[in-house]
Amino acid sequence: MDRLVTAVGAPTCRPETKKYFIETFGCQMNVLDSERADAQLRKCGYQWTDVLEEADLILLNTCAVRERPAEKALVRISEIRRRKKPEAIIGIMGCVAQAEGRRLIDRAPDVKLIVGTQAVGHLAALVTQVERGGDAIVDVRMPNRPAFDRLAPEERRQRHVAYVTIVEGCDKFCTFCIVPFTRGRERSRSPEDILTELRALAGAGYKEVHLLGQNVNSYGLSRRIEGRRMGFADLLEMLAARSGVPRIKFTTSHPRDFDERIVRAIERWPQLCPWIHLPPQSGSDRILALMNRGYTAEEYLRKVEYIRRASRDISLTGDIIVGFPGETDEDFRQTVRLVEQVEFDGLYIFKYSPRPHTVAARWADTVPEPVKTERLMQLVEVQRGVQRRRWQRYLGREVEVLVEGRSTKSERHWAGHTPCHKVVNFESSMTNLEGLIVKVEVTKINPHSLFGRHVESRAESTV
Ligand code: 5AD
Ligand code: SF4
Repeated sequence: MDRLVTAVGAPTCRPETKKYFIETFGCQMNVLDSERADAQLRKCGYQWTDVLEEADLILLNTCAVRERPAEKALVRISEIRRRKKPEAIIGIMGCVAQAEGRRLIDRAPDVKLIVGTQAVGHLAALVTQVERGGDAIVDVRMPNRPAFDRLAPEERRQRHVAYVTIVEGCDKFCTFCIVPFTRGRERSRSPEDILTELRALAGAGYKEVHLLGQNVNSYGLSRRIEGRRMGFADLLEMLAARSGVPRIKFTTSHPRDFDERIVRAIERWPQLCPWIHLPPQSGSDRILALMNRGYTAEEYLRKVEYIRRASRDISLTGDIIVGFPGETDEDFRQTVRLVEQVEFDGLYIFKYSPRPHTVAARWADTVPEPVKTERLMQLVEVQRGVQRRRWQRYLGREVEVLVEGRSTKSERHWAGHTPCHKVVNFESSMTNLEGLIVKVEVTKINPHSLFGRHVESRAESTV
């Protein structure tokens, strides 16, 4: 039998240095959870390695939004098994660990640790238990208590961009989505705690913070500050005014809770980046209702209108699912029409596939695979045209780039992101630009990135 951890004690530190390796799949939330795991593992005497073969502990941080997620995780485990040191411990964390729990151990008995999404904060204690030997340790409890670790700047992997969770879990229960089952009920973090973390990041020189949540717009439905209710737009304004972070981005927005006040906040505060990820999922009202999204295509378009009328040029991105159960050619045509009308700056398109625990997984998956593929390709083509046209507006423009590192092309090339979250590669004669916000004149538009020339100024050396 697997042991379920019930008491979480202080980790015991061991004198010798062991090494750990984490492989991360999926969204920014998983990236942040891997950083939280780093902090925990350092606490119990581990050192990070990027060489799988020399690790004593190997963690796979999994994503369940991909198709056949458990199978993919198990395939990866069998690859790891062939390469690892014989005595190395294998563990699985992330959404697949949460959704599958001990079933993963039935299928891969050498996995000794299953860390659910709400157990990352006490990983050190779990690892200490596993090291004692014996049965596998499984912790997939979902107490749904707010458990937001505040990560110190030095505990983070990236030096210029930091991820900060503001909302955990989701209560929307879209019928295709596994997240409410893997991340639990929605919990908002206190505004004071978020502000304290952002101030520490600004003090340590971080230039950009991404506020994370499955649905950031429903932030703080029950939170009050200074006697009034604090919603997401209030939080944004407070952080822009008081955190000292030069650039604040946020993701993901849900069309049902997205309101005009968020656009007003972006207009008012230059620190709030003009980028909104607002996934419509479909352009057909019938399919939107089956998905339990809580809005119609027209309501979605009305929210897009607010964004388009803003005084700043706000970049809009989205997600679409094609081939949802019952989607007809006419439903799909309505999705194509919506994509043409909105003119997204970027679009992620997914073929529907059933996920465990979800309502839609109980329905027949009616759209044949070749039709899903055909619809996906058609929509990719439509979006390619839209994007090519839309991105022309950047040609000749000066954009501000946070330089994240050298580009792979050559020593003279650098790469980073704009406030509207576009990747920019550019040339410069300067020798070290990493971590600076610089001006770049866009000279070329590539399908998924901008290319340009550094507009050098003396002020930049002190940015
Ligand atoms: N099938 C296909 N795509 C899905 N997504 C979520 N669940 C599924 C599923 N079952 C997509 C949605 C979501 C994005 C992160 O993944 O478009 O916005
Ligand atoms: Fe999933 Fe819907 Fe929640 Fe987004 S809003 S995480 S799609 S259930």
